[in-house]
Amino acid sequence: SSINVEKEPVKVLVTGAAGQIGYALMPLIARGVMLGPNQPVTIHMLDIEQAAEALHGVKMELIDGTFPLLRGVVATTDVVEACSDVNIAIMLAGIPRTEGMERKDVMSRNVSIYKAQASALEQHAADDCKVLVVANPANTNALILKEFAPSIPEKNITCLTRLDHNRALGQIAEKLKVQVNDVKNIIIWGNHSSTQYPDVNHATVTTSSDERSSGERSVRHLIADDKWLNTEFITTIQQRGAAIIKARKLSSALSAASAACDHMRDWVLGTPEGTWVSMGVCSDGSYGIEPGLIYSFPVTCQNGEWSIVQGLKIDEFSRVKMDATASELLEEKSLAYSCLG
Ligand code: LMR
Repeated sequence: SSINVEKEPVKVLVTGAAGQIGYALMPLIARGVMLGPNQPVTIHMLDIEQAAEALHGVKMELIDGTFPLLRGVVATTDVVEACSDVNIAIMLAGIPRTEGMERKDVMSRNVSIYKAQASALEQHAADDCKVLVVANPANTNALILKEFAPSIPEKNITCLTRLDHNRALGQIAEKLKVQVNDVKNIIIWGNHSSTQYPDVNHATVTTSSDERSSGERSVRHLIADDKWLNTEFITTIQQRGAAIIKARKLSSALSAASAACDHMRDWVLGTPEGTWVSMGVCSDGSYGIEPGLIYSFPVTCQNGEWSIVQGLKIDEFSRVKMDATASELLEEKSLAYSCLG
């Protein structure tokens, strides 16, 4: 006979929770998509005073959702209450980008939010709190959070590039007319911005239609069209966020929420054997990227810890693109500090 010892609920903070991404994300967390089907959760939703009523509405809907894993909902405009003892923090708060704006344009407003929230998390979150920054400029917001919360281990502060990673998988699957699940090991290098470098040089497709020839084949080999891979594919991924803003008149929300779940689930529960994913993490100097920058790398995760995939061969084409997006991050960093005064 098995003893059914219920797990302690994990406390998940979502900032900017009354917004579009929050609305798409909440049911995913409550249904166990983020932390697994056996993990109860308590959701802490934070937003600003002007959004308090809308936030209360989301809380009502969460209660009405009768989610078995949902053990509590806190909806608050109080940062201390929101951050108290949280194990996971999903940072959505920020001024969103609108049509025609570059991510840099939202910089000054957003970095000051992240500086303030760094202190709140440092003082009130659980010691092992894992942080995912989604709001733009995501890498630089995460960098500011890291630098102004020195007692949070830097390994615990990450930003979302899984959205770009998933977009790249989607484009390759469409091009090859294969299932997206059969494509893997794409890499997003660098900034979650139009300078990011989606790299397919190590990506593979699992072919299983014919038993005798089942195995993994390289995406470069299957898509003989190098010109498409080196130009149109890259710009499609770099510009996907802008294309969605243009079409929806709102930035991506359901795909962003889904990617945030993928990021957290893989970080907490581990990546499948032989598969890596992209995460914006603190550089340790791997691949010649300046230590301390929050840069998107290929990572594998095990026991709640990510590690950068080592030893991948980098060709000249990739090197130039990886360095360009690193330069942009250095520029953003100095711009952020000048905004903070
Ligand atoms: C996205 O990539 O969809 C978001 O970062 C929104 C944006 O500003 O592009």
